[in-house]
Amino acid sequence: MKTTTRTAVKNGAPAAGGAQGSGVAGPRSLELFTEEQGYFTPGLQQIAIFSQLVMDKGRGALLYDVDGKEYVDFVAGVCVAAIGHGHPGYAQAIAEQVANIHVGSFTTRNRVEFCRRLMRHTPKGLDRVQLYSGGAESVEAAFRLAKSHTQGFEFVGFWGGFHGKTGGVLPLLGDTSFKQGLGPLMPGTYSSPFPDPYRCPLGTVGKHDCAAHCLEFLRSMIRRATTGKLAAIIVEPIQGTAGNIIPPAGFLPGLREVAHEFGGLLIADEMITGFGRTGKWFGCLHEDVRPDIITVGKGMGGGFPVTGLIARSEIAGAKPFANPSGSSSSYGGNPLASAACNAAMRIVEEEGLVENSRVIGERILARLRKMQERFPFMGDVRGRGLLIGVEMIKDPKTKERLGPVSCRRIFDEGLRRGLITMAYSPVIRINPPLNITAEQADRGLDILEETFAAVSRTPDFGKC
Ligand SMILES: Cc1ncc(COP(=O)(O)O)c(C=O)c1O
Repeated sequence: MKTTTRTAVKNGAPAAGGAQGSGVAGPRSLELFTEEQGYFTPGLQQIAIFSQLVMDKGRGALLYDVDGKEYVDFVAGVCVAAIGHGHPGYAQAIAEQVANIHVGSFTTRNRVEFCRRLMRHTPKGLDRVQLYSGGAESVEAAFRLAKSHTQGFEFVGFWGGFHGKTGGVLPLLGDTSFKQGLGPLMPGTYSSPFPDPYRCPLGTVGKHDCAAHCLEFLRSMIRRATTGKLAAIIVEPIQGTAGNIIPPAGFLPGLREVAHEFGGLLIADEMITGFGRTGKWFGCLHEDVRPDIITVGKGMGGGFPVTGLIARSEIAGAKPFANPSGSSSSYGGNPLASAACNAAMRIVEEEGLVENSRVIGERILARLRKMQERFPFMGDVRGRGLLIGVEMIKDPKTKERLGPVSCRRIFDEGLRRGLITMAYSPVIRINPPLNITAEQADRGLDILEETFAAVSRTPDFGKC
């Protein structure tokens, strides 16, 4: 019989891969976490490894671990749990569908209803959708469509960008830690600087503002580095993984111009920014930009693994993408996925969650900006709707980022007080469920403020 080696993970001790635990997990969590560590490869999401928690259930923006401790959720499974946890209407819709039919690519009532709903909110002219089951998969499908339409084969992304980890998108990852050592990467892909207003990657030079300078760089780069066969430029309207970074006004419309100038398309990767997260249905609507293709996922299905692309009709018919079975996949848009999308979108509409995102987002931003006066290590506070970033720095002059030990202290201390947050990174991303209440948001912020005050009193905070 095959045996698996399992060493008990002691509270706060390192798990597989050497990551230190938070010390917050109770005995029931630790027992299950330890067993799972004996089976799983290292490389789980940091929040799971660092916390060592096992979640039992969730209600709205609150989570409960198997030891009965309650947490305010400022992460929402990295923007996936748009309608929160344990929504009864969502559970019922999925249960009904699974009891009737759950497999197959035939049209279902839920799929048609979802399409009807979706087309009420997409930017003008984007009226064709195809569904998939993973984010990277839908971005790769968008690339296939862009190639089919333009006959080009080159793609440009941005420093700090994130579009998944599969072969076709890996070269476009702006964070080298995901791709280092995995070369050679797919040829024909290029990366250009993204205008982060807090730290312009090109520096603010002469008369240029950051966005204009990055656009100029991009034009030059396409002229000099590519073979002149641009298929598409892909951009996140707000860079999520890089730290919820909002580009200056004018950058997204400028990108559309550049893409078309060189015969390519503009793909907006709205996996994070779509479906109300930023206080509008889509992130590109803040600047009235009409991309040629939008990729979607995460919040769209409320947690069910469903993603997709939305395209203009003139583009969507391009072959081979549009050949029978050319754009489809095994699970994309199956009855369960469609039931999840339809239910999640209905809930967002009926409960006014796009507006809630805008209102509570402004409330959180205002409070964080007040906290910034108290804590000099809060270097930059930015956000749109419930997509908020806080840059944690050592020194306001140099803007050097806070070190990993100080960050982990914030994460662990926040967790101990009942806050789930991505504070283990020097760019804290705050993106709770869209149905978080004002009271829950305030409670989460009270914990964050108390945590900042406590850790800033520890002797070497800011130096490590
Ligand atoms: C903007 C964006 N695109 C694509 C992806 C990839 O999604 P998946 O992890 O489902 O492949 C992500 C994941 O975080 C993302 O944030």
